[in-house]
Amino acid sequence: MSAILDIGGVFAGYGAGDILKGVDLTVERGTITCLIGPNGAGKSTVLKTVSGLLRPSRGSVVFDGTEINRLTPKARLRLGIVHVPQERSLFPAMTVRDNLLMGGYLVKDSAVVYARMEEAMKAFPICRSRAAEHAGSLSGGEQKQVELARTLILDPTLILLDEPSIGLDPKSRQIVFESIRSLSASGRTILLVEQNARSGLAVSDFGAVLESGRVRLVATGARLLEDPEVARLYLGGGAVPAVASGTRHTETASTEEDY
Ligand SMILES: Nc1ncnc2c1ncn2[C@@H]1O[C@H](COP(=O)(O)OP(=O)(O)OP(=O)(O)O)[C@@H](O)[C@H]1O
Ligand SMILES: [Mg+2]
Repeated sequence: MSAILDIGGVFAGYGAGDILKGVDLTVERGTITCLIGPNGAGKSTVLKTVSGLLRPSRGSVVFDGTEINRLTPKARLRLGIVHVPQERSLFPAMTVRDNLLMGGYLVKDSAVVYARMEEAMKAFPICRSRAAEHAGSLSGGEQKQVELARTLILDPTLILLDEPSIGLDPKSRQIVFESIRSLSASGRTILLVEQNARSGLAVSDFGAVLESGRVRLVATGARLLEDPEVARLYLGGGAVPAVASGTRHTETASTEEDY
């Protein structure tokens, strides 16, 4: 395996002290990696340091072998790093179709944009059936699908998904997780943040636990699901009995060997 994203010793915050206090996280190319952790741990902040909404004060963010710390969010978009934020991000008064087109504002060749929109509508049929409707008239789950579809207009390499299932009913959640799987199957690498840790880990190849601004535990998604400590803290206590070795509780940096 080779890393598409390597976050090393990252410190970052919003002016009043560091929220991230030495985050180390490696995301392997073509995988889904799920970041879990308590509210306020800094999960969204990690994604912001990757998409460029926030610059680390220390440490490095390396994408596909190149350090990108100093690049603007726009430059990172051009590299293929797309961020779907925790809050809703469609333009509610614009149609679904126009929202998709907006996703391609960085792409100069409109033929490419239209070809990718076609691909996005194939992958997310709701975008075609509701194309002419205002995005704001769609349900939360439907809007999330359009947000996922919109990432495809940039032909992304790395998709950062912040709490895609938050506030959705079970059926919509299932559709969103299936969509994440399909995005992955189409060759995109995905870094996912999820409060629904059980579903998030189940859909992911790897998982990482962020606590108080540091990554404390990394393992395969399956192993984290079996880990009694993770179950107690993040999975509502539903521990899967203890064949769970292989996870590593660590106070230090994770390395590729952890995977
Ligand atoms: N724009 C901001 N300005 C100041 N502080 C912020 C800002 N955004 C987040 N914070 C603070 O940084 C800390 C980490 O926030 P972050 O949103 O990264 O946590 P999180 O793990 O994503 O939490 P949640 O599960 O609630 O989404 C919190 O204490 C939060 O209040
Ligand atoms: Mg968050």
